[in-house]
Amino acid sequence: MQLASRLDQIAESITLAVTARANAMKKQGVDVVSFGAGEPDFDTPAAIKEAAITALRAGRTKYEPTAGTPEARKAIADKLARHNKLPYPPEQIIASVGGKHSLYVAFMAVLNPGDEVLIPAPYWVSYPEMVKLAGGVPVIIQGDPAHEFKITPAQLAAAITPRTKMFIMNSPSNPGGHTYHPAELAALAEVIKPHGNIWVCSDEIYERLLFGDQKTCSWAALDWNTWKDRTITCNCLSKTYAMTGWRIGYTAGAKPLIDAMNKLQSQMTSNITSFCMPAIVEALSNPAMEDEVAKMRQAFEKRGAHIWQRLNALPGFKCVRPTGAFYAFPSIAGALGKPLGKTAAKPKDAIEFCRIVLDEAHVALVPGNDFGFPDHVRLSFATSLEQIDKGVDRLEKLLTASQS
Ligand SMILES: Cc1ncc(COP(=O)(O)O)c(C=O)c1O
Repeated sequence: MQLASRLDQIAESITLAVTARANAMKKQGVDVVSFGAGEPDFDTPAAIKEAAITALRAGRTKYEPTAGTPEARKAIADKLARHNKLPYPPEQIIASVGGKHSLYVAFMAVLNPGDEVLIPAPYWVSYPEMVKLAGGVPVIIQGDPAHEFKITPAQLAAAITPRTKMFIMNSPSNPGGHTYHPAELAALAEVIKPHGNIWVCSDEIYERLLFGDQKTCSWAALDWNTWKDRTITCNCLSKTYAMTGWRIGYTAGAKPLIDAMNKLQSQMTSNITSFCMPAIVEALSNPAMEDEVAKMRQAFEKRGAHIWQRLNALPGFKCVRPTGAFYAFPSIAGALGKPLGKTAAKPKDAIEFCRIVLDEAHVALVPGNDFGFPDHVRLSFATSLEQIDKGVDRLEKLLTASQS
């Protein structure tokens, strides 16, 4: 059977593959502790669900404008102005089918074959694959765990070539759990600023999940006049409002960019699900939703501090303290090449390590290979403290038994 050659360029999502394997084991009755899924374990706030149910009952079941209803786009514009200091008018906003789709349509609208896209590592697995699908060439800038994985202005400057078309910033980060302070973003922005042909794609989907006194800001808010036409601001409702399954993302940017995305989307998916439109308005405009977000953020902060401490006490593990999102991304370099498990296999990278851990300790971790760090693993702490302790206890037992 002949399939499209574009498939040869991309890999399947390892995150989904691990989750599928863990789920298959669970189905067979194995008690797996899963740190795989990058989604909140909370339910969507009731008021948001009600908004969609009411819309559905009222017959809101037809096509809608491709970019979103005027009400939904206005709610997003108001949120961006209020919370992010970004005065985009509603016509410079487009709702898409989740953050993933927002990013993909944006890449398709901006990239030409051979355009280079600068991606700091560790990176979210889909960036390089989506860039390749859009004809671009991913150029990885390696972050240093000793500096919380953050890239430096000098590294960024060294990666720029005449073919550079885009720089992707994700703060707070999946999988690193690190967050760039506004001053750190400003220093990177100074490097990009003279290169008027480079777009910045700012993936801000974890912006509300910040811990302690950590601060960050929207890239375009660093200096609105400089960045308003060069920044692609992407966000979604998935993580902040525990709405991963709803598939609601949005992009704000220059009018020609949003018009181009609208044109592409009109031939791909059309509008997002009709009865999700009022849910956007409810999530972003009802002040009571702020309390819901605050409760979830607090829980993530507590779990993040706890898992970080516990992971750092494991033999061979070293973990940067998460300052945002809900991921811990420890190095397992100290455990690689050493006997592990019943067969005393010596895992050479995170994929082999995770396979043994899943098979023998029944704990699902995501190998860091596809995030650009083959000697790290990712643990999502969007799960209860009890599950965190149960999973880390099992890891501890496996590691200490293997080394004794
Ligand atoms: C950094 C980052 N960007 C985008 C997405 C996509 O979000 P969505 O689930 O809304 O498609 C994710 C999801 O895990 C992510 O971690």
